[in-house]
Amino acid sequence: MTEAVSAPSAVIVLAAGAGTRMKSDTPKVMHPIAGRSMVQHAVAVARELAPAQLAVVVRHQRDKVASHVLDFDSQVTIVDQDEIPGTGRAVEVGLLGLDALGQQVQGTVVVTYGDVPLLKTETLRKLIAFHEEGKNAVTVLTTHLDQPGSYGRIVRNEAGEVTAIVEAKDASEEQLAITEINSGIYAFDATVLRDALTRVTTDNAQGEKYITDVLAIAREDGYRTSALDIEDRWEVEGANDRVQLAQLGRKLNQRITEGHMVNGVTIVDPESTWIDVTVTIENDVTILPGTYLHGNTHIASGAVVGPDTSLTNVTVGQGAKVSRTEGSDAQIGAGASVGPFAYLRPGTVLGDKGKIGTFVETKNAQIGAGSKLPHLSYAGDVTIGENSNIGAASVFVNYDGVNKHRSTIGSNVRMGSDNMYVAPVTVGDGAYSGAGTIIRKDVPAGALAITQAPQRNIERWVIENRAGTEAAEAAQAALAQDSVSSDKESDKQ
Ligand code: UD1
Ligand code: CA
Repeated sequence: MTEAVSAPSAVIVLAAGAGTRMKSDTPKVMHPIAGRSMVQHAVAVARELAPAQLAVVVRHQRDKVASHVLDFDSQVTIVDQDEIPGTGRAVEVGLLGLDALGQQVQGTVVVTYGDVPLLKTETLRKLIAFHEEGKNAVTVLTTHLDQPGSYGRIVRNEAGEVTAIVEAKDASEEQLAITEINSGIYAFDATVLRDALTRVTTDNAQGEKYITDVLAIAREDGYRTSALDIEDRWEVEGANDRVQLAQLGRKLNQRITEGHMVNGVTIVDPESTWIDVTVTIENDVTILPGTYLHGNTHIASGAVVGPDTSLTNVTVGQGAKVSRTEGSDAQIGAGASVGPFAYLRPGTVLGDKGKIGTFVETKNAQIGAGSKLPHLSYAGDVTIGENSNIGAASVFVNYDGVNKHRSTIGSNVRMGSDNMYVAPVTVGDGAYSGAGTIIRKDVPAGALAITQAPQRNIERWVIENRAGTEAAEAAQAALAQDSVSSDKESDKQ
């Protein structure tokens, strides 16, 4: 359900913090869960509100964060925080940065964090609706925690009105006992915010400019301040280290898998199934345990994927079966069958009802409808027509040591096992080949290709050259048996 609320004038996403507890060369907000960095989740949610302006405030590793953000959303305004520390300063530079683009920002400004990836657009809509309907100057999103720890505490008067937010480090014993905490997500009136920020000082336990001080200042000025208390604490939970990152990843995955199940997808074991937010799955798909679906993967209805399968940017057609497979940038046709134990590399296109079987690797391979590579083969840089069969243990020898070459196989061909196709080579429609053929020359339509020298048997070779071995003894026994039975045959005659 989406509430009918007006779009905010601006959203300011804070992402300037150092995130030292990640112990990473990668900026904290760039660590991914469910296929997107934390800051991409935050910006995507903000963007869904369709704000007139969207700013991301950066400082720590600013170049990396800025170019990452602009990569996925080029409309974001990147604003640099200066050396004055604190969330209040971050919001201030964000707001002034947007003001500097043209007219001063008026109306509702939403503030969120770049490291809080589970926040829902729906919740921000509720926050904006609550803020605007209540004619508040400041509305803070809160939740209740049994162990409020280092979170800012929400101070209410006897009437239950929010009068201040106190940081744990600045709080009294009595205030520390408060279990309603500040999520760090707010809706502000732009004019009140801009004015109050000029009066926020760094006179506190951490020597930082706190955004939280804006609430008390606004209230003293006679404005309405309030809090929207939400149930699901995970929505406002941030990741400060990799333990929390994994917890948030699991929570988000749970949300994603439940969403698909509600839409009619069977997920046998949601805990061992990991699905990126970007993946789309039609109803009546079955996902078996140990399956990982990433990027722009799409699974059409009736398909069965897994167990133990990892697909990245793969399209799976209706009713296809994909078992114990690793695949990326590939297309699998309707009713096709892949695996078990297949490796589909980029550029693999398998036609409807086609088959890429067991221990088969493919790359830049177009395999037509109904065509099969059932066992133990490598198909790189090849186009195969329809209803053709490539025998077991065949290799499309695409590399001459310097260059890669492409081969073309026609439709309705029946190629033998253990064939080597030395590219570039073309096989015409309806051709056959013998087992062990090395195809170096084009095969015309309807021809049988064979390269085998005739087989020669050197009788008694093992008995004479390997006397005393188990093989020689076995051979001798077999030959003796043969002569006894042929004697009997001749007796009868
Ligand atoms: C802040 C709140 C606290 C709240 C908590 C929720 C203040 C003073 N305190 O705590 O009440 O319970 O969030 O998580 O606001 N950031 C900047 N620039 C800075 C400092 C921080 O952009 O100078 C960003 C960080 O990147 C992060 C967010 O602001 O995304 C919060 O920073 P953090 O240091 O975790 O919050 P606290 O100040 O501890
Ligand atoms: Ca934090």
